[in-house]
Amino acid sequence: MFYFPEFNGGVVHWLCVLSLVAAPMMYLTESRGLNLGYSKFAARSAALALPSRVGMLLIYAPSVVLFPAMLLAHGAEWTTWHLVTAALISLHFAKRCVEVLYVHRYSGVMNLGSVAFIGVWYSAVTGFVGHVAATEVDAALVNDPAFHPWYLLGGLTWLAGTALNYFHHELLARLRAPGETEYKLPTAGLFRWVACPHYLAELVAWWGYALVFHHVAAAAVAVIMTGYLFGRADTTLRWYHDKLGHGVPPDWKRIIPRVF
Ligand SMILES: NC(=O)c1ccc[n+]([C@@H]2O[C@H](COP(=O)([O-])OP(=O)(O)OC[C@H]3O[C@@H](n4cnc5c(N)ncnc54)[C@H](OP(=O)(O)O)[C@@H]3O)[C@@H](O)[C@H]2O)c1
Repeated sequence: MFYFPEFNGGVVHWLCVLSLVAAPMMYLTESRGLNLGYSKFAARSAALALPSRVGMLLIYAPSVVLFPAMLLAHGAEWTTWHLVTAALISLHFAKRCVEVLYVHRYSGVMNLGSVAFIGVWYSAVTGFVGHVAATEVDAALVNDPAFHPWYLLGGLTWLAGTALNYFHHELLARLRAPGETEYKLPTAGLFRWVACPHYLAELVAWWGYALVFHHVAAAAVAVIMTGYLFGRADTTLRWYHDKLGHGVPPDWKRIIPRVF
């Protein structure tokens, strides 16, 4: 399913190993209430904060171009694999920018520390996979029978996750009339079963991307995203119980219907 290069003790390979430690840490910090400061968990009265739309654009925009920029900077060969992996990750972040601008109806702020942390984090992730694509995958490897990316399954999985993610962002936006800032209980789509179907869809997209990317570096990124979003979903379900307790269905789960 994934291509594991021989461990060479370099930074890239150590970062892949470290993802196994980072993922549970990300889960624990988010689920135990040490939340990054945006959306429901922003400190709204903090002095150092930006309007959510501005903060979100700042964190996503660099990642639209970083992967192809890494390929260009390293003078990498543009095989079909490089074109597809660059296109999917750039499209992912371009979609997020479009949603930030035209879909989400924000009520608050993003704390400046979180803008800086998440912005660096996304850029590091995109730069990391771009660096791996430029330095560890060349035309010879792409043509090696040992390297067989799951283009069809991975691409369809990425597409399904991306579409479902967008669909649930639309459902969240429709909870508020323009200018409204109240939080309401979402019940449509997969919200019928879980508090964070948009996170589940985001993870489906990242795991689809990992299948196409094939080199284990993208799976390492997906592992960390999984830890983070499972933790954020845990704390989000608790938030719904605290704030909108009476309306929350007793069997509502966090992110995976009927399971978690
Ligand atoms: N890859 C990753 O690690 C990662 C991590 C986080 C997010 N993301 C991506 O970013 C997307 C958004 O994440 P997020 O954490 O910002 O999602 P979120 O907290 O659910 O917020 C998304 C939008 O929906 C609004 N909203 C949320 N719950 C609402 C409710 N009950 N009533 C009315 N409006 C509500 C929010 O408004 P307010 O701003 O006013 O709360 C915001 O505009 C995710 O689906 C995912 O695609 C990716």
